[in-house]
Amino acid sequence: MKTDPHQLILGIETSCDETAASIVEGGRHILSSVVASQIDIHAKFGGVVPEIASREHVNHMLPVIDRALRDANKALSELSGIAVTYGPGLVGALLVGVAAAKGLSHATGLPLIPVHHLEGHIASAYLADEALKPPFLCLIVSGGHATLAEVKDYTHFEVLARTRDDAPGEAFDKIARVIGLGYPGGPLIEKAAEGGRRDAFFLPITDFLDSFDFSFSGVKTAAINQYRKIEHEAQQEGKDWPSSVGLSDFAATFQETIVQTLASHTKRALKETNYRQLVIAGGVSANKRLREVMSEMTKEIGVRLTIPTLSFCTDNAAMIASAGYYAWQSGRRASLDLNAVPMAELDDVNRFVVG
Ligand code: KG4
Ligand code: ZN
Repeated sequence: MKTDPHQLILGIETSCDETAASIVEGGRHILSSVVASQIDIHAKFGGVVPEIASREHVNHMLPVIDRALRDANKALSELSGIAVTYGPGLVGALLVGVAAAKGLSHATGLPLIPVHHLEGHIASAYLADEALKPPFLCLIVSGGHATLAEVKDYTHFEVLARTRDDAPGEAFDKIARVIGLGYPGGPLIEKAAEGGRRDAFFLPITDFLDSFDFSFSGVKTAAINQYRKIEHEAQQEGKDWPSSVGLSDFAATFQETIVQTLASHTKRALKETNYRQLVIAGGVSANKRLREVMSEMTKEIGVRLTIPTLSFCTDNAAMIASAGYYAWQSGRRASLDLNAVPMAELDDVNRFVVG
């Protein structure tokens, strides 16, 4: 593939609760990355409220794009294309980014490049590791996904496994809400887990013999039942938490079960597919214990590991601009009738390749 290291792509991301825009050069170098987070607004409700998310995106979209251009000290006329997340995600949220990208494309004549949100998470690793090139295996773990994908080339993906029910980030968020920690649950559980026992009680690990698929609803329900028991015990002792299992033990044991499940599935998939490079991306890849266990596991089996820089694990637009660069190079374009696709499939992105 012919690449030009100086091409500038504007990336736009609004699939969930972050309004983001970024300018990336040559798919690898971030000139600016602006993220307007709505976490504080949704925290009151214990999770993302779609209608509120859409309204917030409308308020922030244009100032965020403007800021990304100013931070990079670039004008729209210097860009090669506009990349936007068209799915998956919340339809009302996606539509704001898609409409903004279409408007800019129409006004400037710049090509409109549709990017799949997970393709963006995969590309976040290119921003952290200059030497990284496909092919590799990628584990994407976030609030909506647990996906193992074969990255055959920059724009060719094959999904090996996905979750059959909940995503790991969703399980973190749910448990944090149940035990009263707040939102988003992942970082709060990680903090609460510090110094806790990782084997304070038993939680099940779900495995499927015939596939690498994930399932987190069993561990989520088991953890909620365990918490109810602990709550009862604490009430009898007249305390917030009983003396047998503390908050940090509970958080550490729950976190460990999720981490070990992800590590064992990924190890099995690496062994069967023979990839020598693993990438872990998505919001949950910010988890320090996951990073530690995955680093040990890959060292043990001689696989190279790349995980994005912490601030690029969660949703951002630099990853969309990076993915957009490679998509642009591959001939992917959208016309102005591009729509948001809330259930977009990762292996379907090449239907947008023209010519
Ligand atoms: O990738 P992301 O920003 O949005 C989606 O595409 O879903 O991921 C957000 C998810 C949330 O569920 C959040 O709780 C989780 O990632 N998360 C974490 C950590 N930081 C964010 N989970 C575990 N440990 C963390 N440090
Ligand atoms: Zn995401």
